Amino acid sequence: MSLLRSASSFVFGDKQHEYRFTADDFERISNLIYQRAGICLPPRKAEMVYNRLSRRLRALGLQSFSDYLKLLGNDSPEWEPFIGALTTHLTAFFREEHHFPILARHAGDKAGNGRVKLWSCAASTGEEPYSMAIAMAERFGTLYPPVDILATDVDAGVLETARQGIYPIERVQSLSERVLRRYFLRGGRDKTGFVKVRPELQQMITFEPLNLLDPVWPLTVQYDAVMCRNVMIYFDRPTQKRVLQHCQRYLKADGLFFAGHSENLSHLADLFDPCGKTVYRPHCGTSVYPAESSLDTVCYA
Ligand SMILES: C[S@@+](CC[C@H](N)C(=O)[O-])C[C@H]1O[C@@H](n2cnc3c(N)ncnc32)[C@H](O)[C@@H]1O
Repeated sequence: MSLLRSASSFVFGDKQHEYRFTADDFERISNLIYQRAGICLPPRKAEMVYNRLSRRLRALGLQSFSDYLKLLGNDSPEWEPFIGALTTHLTAFFREEHHFPILARHAGDKAGNGRVKLWSCAASTGEEPYSMAIAMAERFGTLYPPVDILATDVDAGVLETARQGIYPIERVQSLSERVLRRYFLRGGRDKTGFVKVRPELQQMITFEPLNLLDPVWPLTVQYDAVMCRNVMIYFDRPTQKRVLQHCQRYLKADGLFFAGHSENLSHLADLFDPCGKTVYRPHCGTSVYPAESSLDTVCYA
């Protein structure tokens, strides 16, 4: 292994590694991604960081990590690929399937009070919000259910994939033939081997970038349900608490909050009460947040 350790530093600097990568480089990178996106990168991730970012160095024709780090000034366009390279985008249609019947039942109950508002707040490449849209179409028996879905992510690159709604056919292999026929179009000619989500589902969803770490979120409504799945695991506990306090503010008092399978919110019992497997409701009596009309400005949905 090329990892040469001294008391407090390591260097990737052998023939297998194109670039020299020091403990100091790693520390600067992990501080930057923590400040920008709240993501914690422990030292055991050094090789992964090296591999993902050395692709950026190569693409930009740079000679060293210190040259790369110099690029990351305040408004640098490199922030987007930097965050994109260091975040994990793993997702799937109907991942954690048990959530979707609960979401559908809840939306059905809420539909009498106007349009149902749903939010996927770490939407990645779109499989999660499209699964929500399919669940809604199934629940209401129409491609035009009374539902609006907001899909956000810190990474504008994955959101663009989400917005297009085009996936290799292997990504939908776990879906039934009926669901495939009803909600997807098969690609022809240069799109053979791909499927596209039906435009009616796309129209249900608004895709916008949103960094959960930002102190102000550009939202003006409260949501009937929020899916915030498999993103908290990358945050430390103080960041989780801050983000979840903020999420609670945008969840209706009787709304549902869906977490990922390994995201236990028991240390945040003052914010959320469990009401199913990784499903929560805002903890009653704790909402110290302002009413809908006084939420932050600038709107997406
Ligand atoms: C592992 S994916 C989870 C996707 C989907 N929620 C699921 O469970 O299948 C994590 C997503 O969180 C996003 N993410 C990471 N940090 C974020 C932040 N600070 N604000 C918003 N999204 C973030 C990443 O870009 C990535 O797309």
